[in-house]
Amino acid sequence: MSKPDVLVMGALPQWDMEALEERFTLHRYWEAADPDALISAQAGNIRAIATRGDLGADAALMKRLPKLEMISCFGVGVDGIDLDHARANSIRVANTPDVLTDDVADMGVALILAAARRIPQGDAHVRSGKWLDEGAMGLTSRVTGKRLGILGMGRIGAALARRMRGFDMSIAYHNRTPREGIDATYMETPQALAAASDFLVISSAGGEGTRNIVDASVLDALGPEGVLVNISRGSTVDEAALIDALTQKRIGGAGLDVFASEPDMDRRLLEFENVVVQPHHASGTVETRKAMGKLVLDNLVAHFEGAELLTPVV
Ligand code: 8YV
Repeated sequence: MSKPDVLVMGALPQWDMEALEERFTLHRYWEAADPDALISAQAGNIRAIATRGDLGADAALMKRLPKLEMISCFGVGVDGIDLDHARANSIRVANTPDVLTDDVADMGVALILAAARRIPQGDAHVRSGKWLDEGAMGLTSRVTGKRLGILGMGRIGAALARRMRGFDMSIAYHNRTPREGIDATYMETPQALAAASDFLVISSAGGEGTRNIVDASVLDALGPEGVLVNISRGSTVDEAALIDALTQKRIGGAGLDVFASEPDMDRRLLEFENVVVQPHHASGTVETRKAMGKLVLDNLVAHFEGAELLTPVV
């Protein structure tokens, strides 16, 4: 039996490409000299898409693939996939929840500590010889015992809360609706949450529902000592407002794993010494990426075997 044709939108780890190749005929969109021509040539064959959270799949692409049955996303965030179009056209969508929760929450912890304790600056202070030549670096801010605000109390937010309780932090959160069984104080608005936080961590889903949910009013509520951490999507922050707030020292600092535009992020953010950045790498450990890749494959296999998807979105 011939292998189903799968369009792969962007690079996946080599081990995933090899595993996918055993079961499917792969068409590498990102490597094609002319991606448009690739789609035109294979439109009648492609039955599934393997994409990533940061690449998604829009309606225009789906419309060009009349045989498309399924989209398997390497990532939990499916804000880049037009789910309404998929639903309306009976295209199934699967993602990779749970397997990345711990690593993304760990990155939240790391960015809180890195921003507050100025870890990159300390590293640079030693490497540059300043420690020897000029003496100790400046003092930093404590994390233990401070107030944590979690914007988006889903799986990742809850995992972050569990970790930060170990730092004796008091924890509040905002969600569209309060969650049962969460040992944290519910705040009615993002502004109220920010006003009650020393560290405000965004761990919500991306997409239209949360676009610019952190705007100038939330940043002002966080205040000149407050630190913003984003492990969600760049779209959740009004980045122009963030740059203004940093320039005018209306917030204390930021730890950012995600940006409005990636990887071509707004480089003005790099000019602030109180901003710590990461290259959208919260799930980027070997262990988690292997588990994500396996789930991408297992969902595709399940679909083509006529079984239930393991982690369906649509
Ligand atoms: C990945 C992500 O970095 O899960 C998500 O939604 O954004 C990340 O885990 C990304 O999908 C891989 O490129």
